[in-house]
Amino acid sequence: MQIFGVDIGGSGIKGAPVDLDRGDLAQARHKVLTPHPATPDSVVGGVVEVVRNFAWSGPVGITFPGVVADGTVRTAANVDRSWIGVDAAKLIGDRLSLPVTVLNDGDAAGVAEMTFGAGGKRKGTVILLTFGTGIGSAVFHGGSLVPNTELGHLELHGHDAETRASTKAKEDEGLSWQHWAHRVQKYLAHVEMLFSPELFIIGGGVSRKAEKFLPLIEGVSAEIVPAQLQNNAGIVGAAMAASSG
Ligand code: BGC
Repeated sequence: MQIFGVDIGGSGIKGAPVDLDRGDLAQARHKVLTPHPATPDSVVGGVVEVVRNFAWSGPVGITFPGVVADGTVRTAANVDRSWIGVDAAKLIGDRLSLPVTVLNDGDAAGVAEMTFGAGGKRKGTVILLTFGTGIGSAVFHGGSLVPNTELGHLELHGHDAETRASTKAKEDEGLSWQHWAHRVQKYLAHVEMLFSPELFIIGGGVSRKAEKFLPLIEGVSAEIVPAQLQNNAGIVGAAMAASSG
């Protein structure tokens, strides 16, 4: 079965039909740049452009980079604050005239990795962290997701953790891999202290370059692996969420 998945990120909006039997994109994805300011109207325009690039009629799953409860946006750290309180599922569904499901981007990536990727259907506590414009999180125990965990906003040495350890922070501050890996290590150690996971899955675009920084991370007991679906995990997870209603 195929369902359309869209991933709204801080830098790009990307989507493709997803083959849910294989957990992979059924066609090459289409990407547009995230507009700035990333208001509801401008972002929805980007989503419509991505979906209309394909001859698609059917359910659409969409990730959003903030807390989403029952389709309504509750936080907007890296997109325009006018998103807060917007029923994103209804807004986008009306514009597309298609059934739409919206969920947090970290949660979507986590669900995809647990089923088709690095999670390997593990039953203990597994935490996926996506490093990009922000830090997204998905926490699982017994294979079940605790949604909207927002671990990117844990306080670390007096700072919002994602402002120190996201890949945006690496780029903005021109940090070396070594320097950035040191920050990621401190962050992972903090999350480990709180949750004692058996496995960390590192997602986001940076998972493609895992060999540059994972070997530099020490002092964390949990196993640390890169996401296998890499930067497509959000698209796949969005489609999975739309297929399960
Ligand atoms: C948001 C999260 C999101 C993460 C990654 C954070 O700033 O608060 O909801 O999952 O960025 O996009």
